[in-house]
Amino acid sequence: MKISKTILHSKDIQKQTAVLGKQITADYQGKNLVLIGVLNGAFIFLADLARAIDLDLEIDFLRVSSYGNDTSTSGTIALSKEPELDLKGKDILLVEDIVDTGTTLSWLAGYFAQFSPASVKICSLIDKHERRKMDVSVDYVGFTLHKGFLIGYGLDYAQKYRNLPSIHTMEE
Ligand code: IMP
Ligand code: MG
Repeated sequence: MKISKTILHSKDIQKQTAVLGKQITADYQGKNLVLIGVLNGAFIFLADLARAIDLDLEIDFLRVSSYGNDTSTSGTIALSKEPELDLKGKDILLVEDIVDTGTTLSWLAGYFAQFSPASVKICSLIDKHERRKMDVSVDYVGFTLHKGFLIGYGLDYAQKYRNLPSIHTMEE
């Protein structure tokens, strides 16, 4: 695998993140917003998104361990780190790097019901439709893409490339 094209430049990611931040700021007036980042991929996007939201919000993280190969998610999902804040009555916004098959987020949406939150919504930097298996609706989408394996800005291939400022495709 090698890095090929740049798909999303760092400047465009910043612009789109500002747009999402404004929308979220408007939609969550008077609510109890908690951003919950899905580790590891979402850590950079969450850091930028949180600073684009002008509200008194809380931040937490969870980590999903799914057992599959390097480039896709298998159906088996478990949490290797649970959120730690009290989520009862809170307005949860799950922050993801990329929705691909939808397996991770459809599982997570069900998982949060046990905490009796006021609401659960999803914000993903990228909504990728190539391999969608589960019907998940992403409430806030940065970019919609149709195919390709992406790296950079938090996204990895075998744990590498997360630190690249822009998003690129990888090819054989
Ligand atoms: P899903 O459960 O298939 O929707 O997969 C979502 C997770 O798979 C994301 O949170 C990523 O960690 C990983 N993933 C899916 N597509 C890509 C990609 O193109 N590059 C890097 N990671 C990806
Ligand atoms: Mg991820």
